Amino acid sequence: MRTVQLLNSDWSFTDMDGNKAQVNIPHTWNALDGQDGGNDYRRGKCTYEKRFAAPSFDPEAQRVYLEFDGANASAEVVLNGKRLTTHHGGYATFRCDITDALQGENLLRVEVDNSVNDRVYPQKADFTFYGGIYRDVKLLIVHKAHFDLDYYGGNGLKITAQTHGSVQVRSWHTGENAQVKITLLDAEEKEVATGYGEDIMLTVQNPHLWHGTVDPYLYTCKAELLVDGDVVDYVNQKFGIRSIRVDSKKGFFLNGKAYPLRGVCRHQDWKGIGNALSKTHHETDMALIREIGANTIRLAHYQHDQYFYDLCDRYGMIVWAEIPYISEHMESGWENTVSQMKELIVQNYNHPSICVWGLSNEITISTKNKKDMLRNHHALNDLAHKMDATRPTALACYAVCGPFNKVAHITDLVSWNLYLGWYVPGLFLNDLWVDFFHFCFPNRPLGYAEYGCEGMPNLHAARPRRGDHSEEYQAKYHEYLVKFIEKRPFMWATHVWNMFDFAADARNQGGEPGMNHKGLVTFDRQTKKDSFYLYKAYWTDTPFVHICGKRYADRTEKITAVRVYSNCDSVTLYADGKEIATKQADKVFVFTVPLGETTQIKAVAGACADTATLHYTPTPNRSYRLEKGKGNGQNWTK
Ligand code: GCU
Repeated sequence: MRTVQLLNSDWSFTDMDGNKAQVNIPHTWNALDGQDGGNDYRRGKCTYEKRFAAPSFDPEAQRVYLEFDGANASAEVVLNGKRLTTHHGGYATFRCDITDALQGENLLRVEVDNSVNDRVYPQKADFTFYGGIYRDVKLLIVHKAHFDLDYYGGNGLKITAQTHGSVQVRSWHTGENAQVKITLLDAEEKEVATGYGEDIMLTVQNPHLWHGTVDPYLYTCKAELLVDGDVVDYVNQKFGIRSIRVDSKKGFFLNGKAYPLRGVCRHQDWKGIGNALSKTHHETDMALIREIGANTIRLAHYQHDQYFYDLCDRYGMIVWAEIPYISEHMESGWENTVSQMKELIVQNYNHPSICVWGLSNEITISTKNKKDMLRNHHALNDLAHKMDATRPTALACYAVCGPFNKVAHITDLVSWNLYLGWYVPGLFLNDLWVDFFHFCFPNRPLGYAEYGCEGMPNLHAARPRRGDHSEEYQAKYHEYLVKFIEKRPFMWATHVWNMFDFAADARNQGGEPGMNHKGLVTFDRQTKKDSFYLYKAYWTDTPFVHICGKRYADRTEKITAVRVYSNCDSVTLYADGKEIATKQADKVFVFTVPLGETTQIKAVAGACADTATLHYTPTPNRSYRLEKGKGNGQNWTK
């Protein structure tokens, strides 16, 4: 049978200057210089080496594979001096059969390269392209007859389920005289269907549908490979039974029911560790996204860790998955868009959470050869449809890309990245833009793949204004946008940019170089900004109440506005124990409060309460403002 060994420990790392260190995987060499600004993080070739003893295996009956789950951006794998494979693309799983190159003692050398080039995406974007082997490395020992491990990093299974209960299971394997047995198990691991064959149609009676965050019911497909009646290999793959449909006037439907997709975007990096995440980091991110009640996640701008897609299946998130075909079309990058799209679909086809394949992001920003770019998009769109007839394609358009631009009319769905009210003045422009597009193209499903604004929990303003990077302006912006979206159920999906602050080393905005502060939560996941609670009020039902502006404690007004977010209908506010008012409102409650030198504020909604301490001070707290000269600077990693 199959065994898996982790090869994550004791690697000898040599950076591009020849400095050596002992490291464990996951690892990135840009954990720090990729997050401090200056657009100067080290990009180039580094080397990882590991000595290991060959696993015990029978070379006559077994094969040994090496698997990398993520090495950014290109990797050349050499074992005992023999070059085994080269992979281009920093976000997908890739493997190679190392059986014939194995010796008793082995030297594995992996050269990883995140240099600037013109053929591997991404090359230009607003995030750091951390270099390194930043996801697991594994040894797989399998029978020579085994489910496929060679086709674009997949697991050899393709499960297509219909809501009336028919489940097609296609499988690919090595071994001439091998037989495939498929068994479908329900969530209690009870057998619900079984059969033999490499392309079989099974029926699940009274299927229990996977219904998003409401009821993310998962089955398991147990695939066994038999030779002479003995099981020589197996793959277990969870799957869900669900249907999706998008109506340009009524929005997204899941299992025939209206299911407006309202959620967030997520990057895969954390403060101080870059993209070298552990399962705990992924779990923390999922827990925070669930806390605000999002039901969809745009996993931007690349293929994310399998474990995070598994969490999305488990907790019912509808996912927009995408490849990093971003900002600038490269004529010599065509092949890489195809290989990354093939890997994305082959490796993730079985996730019920994934409902959209994203082809590109803001590709018109600095594309020179528009004709070639459009041809590349048509090729990807056709490829995605050929590989997966069950999911729509989409792409995210740049704000400056007009509604009539051809690139916006290739994929099945289209969304825009619009920052009206942040990069340009005028929150009301969101209404004009979206209603104009919908008027012009009433039959074209439209969403917001990104919207958001910078908000830093240490910057505050009594009169928040666009560009001040204050926590208060971010909340004001989102108060407008969440209502704007609520009035447009035809928008098939909306994704806040971003759930978390993230690193973009080219940035020099808002007082902290190298950072994008549009997150609802800070980079270290320690601080939930006020706008986090606004969405929690709109998207969750468990009663809570949140006083905004706790960090804006020093105020120069004797009478100040205190905003409260709650999903309850009524909130009572007290100041130093004295009732100020009881108000009914829709999520956002605003009270006028007299301040003393120190004033204890308390908000009560039903059985819920929240408190804050505010101070009247005649001298403004200078730390609340952006330092002079900050707040501008380039955006793009080049
Ligand atoms: C763009 C881009 C993001 C970027 C965002 C921003 O829409 O797609 O990657 O981070 O704008 O400017 O914050």
